[in-house]
Amino acid sequence: MLQFSALPDLPTNPSSPSVLVPTMGALHEGHSALIRRAREIAGRQGIVTVSIFLNPLQFDSASDLAVYPRTLEADLLLCSGLGVDKVYTPSPEEFYAPDHSISIVENSLSRTLCGTTRPGHFEGVCTVVLKLLNALRPSAAIFGKKDYQQLAIIMRLVRDLCVPVEIYGVETEREPDGLALSSRNLNLNPEHRKDASRIYGALLSARDIRETGEQRREVYLQTARKHLVENAPSEMGIEYLELVDRETLAPLAKVTRPALLATAITYDKIRLIDNIEI
Ligand code: PAF
Repeated sequence: MLQFSALPDLPTNPSSPSVLVPTMGALHEGHSALIRRAREIAGRQGIVTVSIFLNPLQFDSASDLAVYPRTLEADLLLCSGLGVDKVYTPSPEEFYAPDHSISIVENSLSRTLCGTTRPGHFEGVCTVVLKLLNALRPSAAIFGKKDYQQLAIIMRLVRDLCVPVEIYGVETEREPDGLALSSRNLNLNPEHRKDASRIYGALLSARDIRETGEQRREVYLQTARKHLVENAPSEMGIEYLELVDRETLAPLAKVTRPALLATAITYDKIRLIDNIEI
């Protein structure tokens, strides 16, 4: 496995698939699923590259960036165990010129859900992802559906700016109790970690309503909300709980088309997101 931090000079050979898994490190089983999917797409002859770059542009507070787990040694071991061909690990100084002055702003999908409370976050994501795609020139790139809004925005970015790459979304990996795998789970205290299983439980309880043919938005939201708040610890907060169109992420009044129920939950300062397709 080749670890590198300086940008390669040559474009990737377009005749052999090369698949990028962009990450910010602190790799877990959710990332492993992305890497396995990357290998399926690349095939035995293709190249799987993982980028590990804690992108300062997408953090809205310095304190959030400061507590983000950094586990490079373990990340490299995980990559090598999964047969990753290359790992790109630039420092912020190597990646961004000191006077870099261009960024990518998405003006629609990034205004809802996480975008309402995380100003600049998706600008940072779009900027780093476009730069990674330009720098590494993969034929495909893989993103998790846990960050569904991010995936939808990246698909829009690639469509609107004609970026020559295929984007794949991979299902969310979960703990046995349903909690979506996330690097942030490591920061939960034991009580909050145990309680956090209610998030997926709430999403499932709302999704089950679909079987009855129910279409009304309020019914889905009320069902999920009830499950979220019942006997919840006082430190648990609902940042948002929304029912949106899966492609445009605009709020849906009725479930008459593919919908997404998405939520952001906080335990003190720790913020967890999850979603379910309906
Ligand atoms: O999902 C993430 O880990 C990050 O947002 C990404 C896509 C690697 C960009 O920094």
